[in-house]
Amino acid sequence: MKKIFILLLFSIQFSFGNSIFWSKTGHRVIGKVAQEELSGKTRRALNKLLDGQGLASISNFADEIKADRRFREFSAWHYVNIPPDKDYSNIEPSEYGDLVVGIQKCISIVKNDSNTKEDRVFYLKMLVHLIGDLHQPMHVGRLEDKGGNDVQVQWFGRGSNLHRVWDANMINDYGMSYTELATSLPELNKLEKKAIQEGSILDWVKESQEIANKLYDSVEVGEKLAYRYSYTWWGTVEGQLQKGGVRLAKVLNEIFK
Ligand code: ADE
Ligand code: ZN
Ligand code: ZN
Repeated sequence: MKKIFILLLFSIQFSFGNSIFWSKTGHRVIGKVAQEELSGKTRRALNKLLDGQGLASISNFADEIKADRRFREFSAWHYVNIPPDKDYSNIEPSEYGDLVVGIQKCISIVKNDSNTKEDRVFYLKMLVHLIGDLHQPMHVGRLEDKGGNDVQVQWFGRGSNLHRVWDANMINDYGMSYTELATSLPELNKLEKKAIQEGSILDWVKESQEIANKLYDSVEVGEKLAYRYSYTWWGTVEGQLQKGGVRLAKVLNEIFK
């Protein structure tokens, strides 16, 4: 009986944990794309802080600490809920904090070199992850369905939800490693990268929110999603991963300039 209980606990934990993050692969792709766009100065500063670890390898830290109660205060930083017809600047901010507040806090702590190395490293790892989450459209979804977590759908005949399709199902089923995925993204020239880096965090949030609005409109509760859904949206997935990486590099280059 005890064994069954423990097994049940594990499976609840597993399926919940699974449903709340842009897949590990997605975050690593964003880290790898960003790594290639760092200035020399930023690269040296990051090497010092991260003891030579690359951005891909630290990109999932913020999800890994989620299960630890000591870090509960950061759990609302992974997303921001905005009604479809509103902008972030005219909603009542969540008392628990959100993605925007989290990113701003991380930037200010990492920037200030009078903070301890330990603090700067912690918030740097959080920042790398949160810029990734910002580019998962369903992390800028609606409060009433927890960013699509309560929009049940089928994914290749198995139960899933709109949030999880975007966090994990599409990317994992694509079947590429993070390095393969990162190197298979379309090459961008300097001007294209610059255009992607334009704008503020709030502009990027708006862009994700607009994609999320389309995603909500294009799915019915209980719908059976499979290849056709992936064909339709894979370009958007790749675009968001690439934008996430190129913009993460911009944020880091500005911090360490
Ligand atoms: N993950 C957990 N809760 C969420 C929410 N309300 N919005 C987006 N992602 C979430
Ligand atoms: Zn998620
Ligand atoms: Zn996250």
